[in-house]
Amino acid sequence: MTTSELAARAGQERLADRLLRSTAARSYDPELDVDWSAAPQEGKLFLPEHRSTLYGTGMWERLTPDQRRELGRHEAASVAGFGIWLECILMRLLTKLAYEGDPATRHVQYALAELAEECRHSTMFARLIEWLGVPYYRPSRRVHALGRLLTATAHGPAMWGAILIGEEITDRYQREMAADDSIQPIVQMVNRIHILEEARHIGFARAELARSAARLPRAELPVQRLMLGRVAFTVARNLVNPEVYRSVGLDPAEARRVALANPAHHETLRYGGEKIAAFLREAGMIGPPATHLWRRSHLTA
Ligand SMILES: [Fe+2]
Ligand SMILES: [Fe+2]
Repeated sequence: MTTSELAARAGQERLADRLLRSTAARSYDPELDVDWSAAPQEGKLFLPEHRSTLYGTGMWERLTPDQRRELGRHEAASVAGFGIWLECILMRLLTKLAYEGDPATRHVQYALAELAEECRHSTMFARLIEWLGVPYYRPSRRVHALGRLLTATAHGPAMWGAILIGEEITDRYQREMAADDSIQPIVQMVNRIHILEEARHIGFARAELARSAARLPRAELPVQRLMLGRVAFTVARNLVNPEVYRSVGLDPAEARRVALANPAHHETLRYGGEKIAAFLREAGMIGPPATHLWRRSHLTA
């Protein structure tokens, strides 16, 4: 190993060691730390109104306040269901890292600690869907197929970037909700737990992305960018399943068309993508031949 490789390995171990200490000091058990027996509170929302996919449209104006709150409940459940899909992918990728790596390193030990947290998060989101009392909005078969492809083929910056797209977009909305007391306390608590633990995951993945992007052979860059662009587009289009619109008597296909053309929804996506897109662009991971996928996703301005 060269001197610079040794220095990089030492830096990787120091970061993993710090994250492991933080995990030991502060983590949650959502089974115990969330009061799942509490009923939803009258008048509190499940999702901020301005984050609803139809907010600001004529369709939204025709909904009653109760219908808007109900739609928010279903949209929140859809995002939680999509979150489980994302976390299952993360768990498989982290398993790959542990399977192939050296378990005597702090690096692999941290991957295992993160895997345990993602597993608890998925249980937490599953309980949230149950608590919300709405159906499970399952991601489509195409999305499931893409997930399988991603777990089988992703490596290097596309793997870490895919993880970050999943974690950072939802993190932005969760931070907003955790600070908004018009939101149901149970939803706020779920968000607070996720924000705290994801901060470590994001730190870990950002460091790995920077390291692997710097080592990427130039010839591989277009494929890696395309894979990331495809993930970004899929995440943006599937956070909310169109079936949610049935809950307030709207036709899913028609409401979906309205949502996809809604400038307020585009702004919500741009807000969600702001930090991760800036980071990926800085690392050289956004650009041709995938620029159009990012633009169509509305995650970049
Ligand atoms: Fe998570
Ligand atoms: Fe995570």
